[in-house]
Amino acid sequence: MTTTESTPQSGTVTGEAPTPTGPTSKIDYSEKIPNNVNLAGDRKLQRALEAWQPKFIDWWKNLGPSIPTHDVYLRTAIAVGRDGWAHFDRVPMEDYRWGIFLAEQDPDRKVNFGDKKGEPAWQEVPGEHRSDLRRLIVVQGDTEPASVEQQRHLGMTAPSLYDMRNLFQVNVEEGRHLWAMVYLLQAYFGKDGREEAEQLLKRNSGDFDSPRILGAFNEETTDWLSFFMFTYFTDRDGKYQLGTLKESGFDPLARTCEFMLKEEAHHMFVGTTGVQRTVQRTAELMKQHGTDDIWQYGGIPLTVIQKYLNFQFSVSMDLFGSETSSNAAAYYTAGLKGRWMETRRKDDHQLHDLTMDVPIIENGAMSTKNVPMLTALNLDLRNEYAADCENGVKRWNQELEDAGLEERLFLPHQGFNRKVGTFAGHRVSPTGEILDDAAWEKNVGEWLPTSDDRARVAELMVPHYDTGDFAGWISPPSVGINSMPVEYDYVRF
Ligand SMILES: [Fe+2]
Ligand SMILES: [Fe+2]
Repeated sequence: MTTTESTPQSGTVTGEAPTPTGPTSKIDYSEKIPNNVNLAGDRKLQRALEAWQPKFIDWWKNLGPSIPTHDVYLRTAIAVGRDGWAHFDRVPMEDYRWGIFLAEQDPDRKVNFGDKKGEPAWQEVPGEHRSDLRRLIVVQGDTEPASVEQQRHLGMTAPSLYDMRNLFQVNVEEGRHLWAMVYLLQAYFGKDGREEAEQLLKRNSGDFDSPRILGAFNEETTDWLSFFMFTYFTDRDGKYQLGTLKESGFDPLARTCEFMLKEEAHHMFVGTTGVQRTVQRTAELMKQHGTDDIWQYGGIPLTVIQKYLNFQFSVSMDLFGSETSSNAAAYYTAGLKGRWMETRRKDDHQLHDLTMDVPIIENGAMSTKNVPMLTALNLDLRNEYAADCENGVKRWNQELEDAGLEERLFLPHQGFNRKVGTFAGHRVSPTGEILDDAAWEKNVGEWLPTSDDRARVAELMVPHYDTGDFAGWISPPSVGINSMPVEYDYVRF
């Protein structure tokens, strides 16, 4: 997949979609729940989803964006095919329409990997894989509303109307991704699916008794630098997870994820350019004043940006699970969850005879262990992810180079600050040295944001709500949304 997220100057200003395939299918907006799955033809399912809809709206009102607005310049999906899938307009939030959109069906699609390779893709859930598939969908579904909850109050401190609009865009689409997963649960998993759909609204990010399933989705997104790091690193985890589910032999899941990926690209664009604009401003101030200590000039020091990066990268790496996993092997062998770019891989797509090196720490030193490749698929995906993460860092460093500065940002070592997998329980520095507790404690304040760092960043988070006005810690973007000017009232109060 080619992502347009990182090339806004080359004609794609909003970083929308990878080049879509298939014919255009219109979405019916005359329905109570807009959809392209002929919901009207299945009265039982329609009733179940219509019963869930007011609960979703309540959740959005209570835990969605907390800042009241008159309208927001938003993108809404109107088709799923090749051309013009998105429509832009000013939308009052109470009129926003969430719906169910699946990519076009390919009648010849096959299961492309695992022991069922070559069978026609399944249009129904295979009985023996029912609980595994449901679990995969629930875990993916749980992350979608979680991020909306985490970002709930950011509108109050937006550095511009342009940025606030992007926040709303990300939030409404994460809400739609919840719809996407709830549709699958209700359409294909009967009573258990309906119960899971309820639970998706009952768990809440950071809730003591009923938290979201995955750790990174219970962390607070305290400020806009966190938000940009989140959309860069954590939404990118989402991209890679969706990329593996898009390969699924269960065709409705594959088609759902394929369309979600189109929307997802914009979220990472927000992260890539958000951090870039922050670094650009930081570099300007460093250059201008000849010091890294630019708090006093209203900027965020590069060392603090690096700490935020270290944090968000490490918690996002945890989302891939353990390096070796028998579940990952079972999902693959069963045809439920493939690899990133599965059909482009040059092997037998069954992997029984292949092996892979996974990192381990042995006798206090970094080493590797050779394991069956099927058990190392979480690491395979994480490696693809980490390589992709490097692209943004290169782009951010270009800002530093352009400003004539020597300093550079970097991704920390894969073992840094990890809570899941082989590195959990070890102390590893950002450059990959194994440390004892004392050395870790002594230096951790240099590597992860301290409460003082977060407080000082928070002090800079003063809202800028006048048209074309931008906070002093971030540069304006080079272009606006959908060919609109940067100085445009993307949000009206
Ligand atoms: Fe999403
Ligand atoms: Fe996202």
